Amino acid sequence: MYITGGIAAYKAAYFVRALVKDGAKVRVAMTKSATKFITPMTFKTLSRHRVYTDEALVTDDEIVPHIELADWSDTAVIIPATANVIAKMSHGLADDFVTSALLASDCPKFVVPAMNEKMLKNKATTRNIKSLRMDGIKVLDPDVGFLAEGYQGKGRLPSTSTILKWIKQENKNQISTVKDLTGKKILITAGKTLETIDPVRYITNRSTGKMGYALAQTAVERGAEVTLISGPTNLPEISNVNFISIITTAEMFEEVNKFFEQMDIVIMAAAVSDYRIEKPATQKIKKKSATLEIKLVKNVDILKSLGQKKNKQILVGFAAETQNLLENASRKMQEKNVDLLVANDVSRADIGFGSDQNEVTFLRPDHKPVLIGKSDKKRIAAKVFDCIIGF
Ligand SMILES: Cc1cc2nc3c(=O)[nH]c(=O)nc-3n(C[C@H](O)[C@H](O)[C@H](O)COP(=O)(O)O)c2cc1C
Repeated sequence: MYITGGIAAYKAAYFVRALVKDGAKVRVAMTKSATKFITPMTFKTLSRHRVYTDEALVTDDEIVPHIELADWSDTAVIIPATANVIAKMSHGLADDFVTSALLASDCPKFVVPAMNEKMLKNKATTRNIKSLRMDGIKVLDPDVGFLAEGYQGKGRLPSTSTILKWIKQENKNQISTVKDLTGKKILITAGKTLETIDPVRYITNRSTGKMGYALAQTAVERGAEVTLISGPTNLPEISNVNFISIITTAEMFEEVNKFFEQMDIVIMAAAVSDYRIEKPATQKIKKKSATLEIKLVKNVDILKSLGQKKNKQILVGFAAETQNLLENASRKMQEKNVDLLVANDVSRADIGFGSDQNEVTFLRPDHKPVLIGKSDKKRIAAKVFDCIIGF
């Protein structure tokens, strides 16, 4: 547990007590600022272990204590998390014991912010929390209520039981890190494609690439050799993938074909443009007439072409539908000759394009459809690979 310098630091003592009562082994590290709010002695007594403070960085000469703590922990909880430590974590700073240990930890991290409402709603804090979440760090939303400043607002530390319940639930949702895809070569497409109208304009779609990137990340974590062919996205890079950037559907087709033969699993999660502009203008189209006609011609159907030529590959397709989900998706599965079709209803605002969550149905030839309830795209990705492994 990492305690930082907020007024709610004293409540962390109740949390440590609850964890210990729950049977957990707890070690506590505190920032210098946190020790001004509550003493290390309290946590030493509750956790029955020494408390790590900045002194440990310089006084311990036999071990490197921040690395030892990082390696020892299987879960890191930052409670309360100050705006300051959230900012440091989001930028990878490590200028004291707590932030050094956090940077060295590769276990799941749970951040429980507590601060004044204006600090919480500040654009920088909002940006930093978003960036932590994008890095896969869990951040609990603070409660609304009476703040230490004497007025109502958002920023209160949630109750011990709420925090405990949240961590347990999130841990249950944790993705398997079994290396069951070791030795597998996997090709994944992600994001959208862009089709040029003129030098400044294009047509595209609402795909953000989140699903494809979650698949690539999961495949890497489970030991696969991953090639990710992606259209433009705002997503952070994924380490240890062979990353290929494309713009148009034709480019995607060309790149996919370069790799297809050597692959074991091919997952087409990109939302490619079915049509392209027949003759893109070489100069910017001027605003002259009241109407403008642009002729579109069909792009090659990448998934169908792969379905026709697949031999050893397991081919997975995605279907984004706005109506008659199962009917349209079943037809697509047959027409494209895929081994697994992941169908989702993109007419729902709470799931699908842009959302961090999805609710999908798995369709397989000669199998009943399987609904995967609304969950994190990372969890859906894990389910896709669980399904493939079980083929
Ligand atoms: C009385 C007092 C209460 C504070 N409460 C909070 C708080 O609840 N949340 C917060 O983010 N910062 C709070 N701060 C500001 C932090 O203590 C300050 O940003 C400090 O540098 C945090 O250091 P740390 O992140 O290394 O623990 C408070 C400061 C004071 C003086």
